[in-house]
Amino acid sequence: MDHPNSQPQHRSPSPQDILADAAARFAADKVAISFSGAEDVVLVDMARQLGLDVAVFSLDTGRLHPETYRYLETVREHYGVAIELLSPDPEALQTLVREKGLYSFLRDGHGECCGVRKIMPLRRKLATLDAWITGQRRDQSVTRVDVPHEQVDKAFSTENHPVVKFNPLAGWTSADVWSYIRTNGVPYNPLHDRGFVSIGCEPCTRPVGPHEHERAGRWWWEEATQKECGLHAQNVIRIVNR
Ligand code: ADX
Ligand code: SF4
Repeated sequence: MDHPNSQPQHRSPSPQDILADAAARFAADKVAISFSGAEDVVLVDMARQLGLDVAVFSLDTGRLHPETYRYLETVREHYGVAIELLSPDPEALQTLVREKGLYSFLRDGHGECCGVRKIMPLRRKLATLDAWITGQRRDQSVTRVDVPHEQVDKAFSTENHPVVKFNPLAGWTSADVWSYIRTNGVPYNPLHDRGFVSIGCEPCTRPVGPHEHERAGRWWWEEATQKECGLHAQNVIRIVNR
């Protein structure tokens, strides 16, 4: 018998539990993994190992490292998975580049460029889905300390179309992710062996030095609490309201 003062034990769901739950609750064409081409590959590996039929997409900003493009192909071949690449709207992109050039983010902040190259394509994609699965973790940033395993995505839901966002790795640390990658022989982006920890677009990502936080290598000219590109705008909204 339990000790009278003992508390009920609630096991935190594993990333695999959350992935399986997402795949069980949403039809195969209504949920997808959003894969950045970095260490969130563990989601693709887990889905594969669980035999889940979950689609994968990546936002092809046009500014990823050559290594990341090659790595996307490595993942495609290794897992036999189709990775849907989402491109920016050509007219919006042309207008941005004509008016502001290729490096406007250094002057104006990354919001506008990320808006055209990431947010608009993601919005288009999420209009066709009911749920998406991301590799966000709480240990990644001051903007992510409250990221739950599952949330209604307030940034991309509309009045008539709620979108659920799953973050199966929310409770994992970077060390957990890398232990999984090594134990399971998961192919990873070669940039990680050259000092890159968090990987985004080439002009907005740099390697980090010893004891620097991983987000120090992203948009390093901006303030840490603003380091969300809008994919996870909800995190910044929360900080502002806290
Ligand atoms: S970002 O918003 O700062 O760029 P980050 O690189 O930390 O995000 O990645 C967090 C999660 O956002 C990834 O695990 C992935 O689910 C999603 N994500 C980020 N970049 C992309 C991308 N280019 N394509 C698809 N998903 C992405
Ligand atoms: Fe543009 Fe940089 Fe954002 Fe990529 S990360 S979309 S290059 S501002």
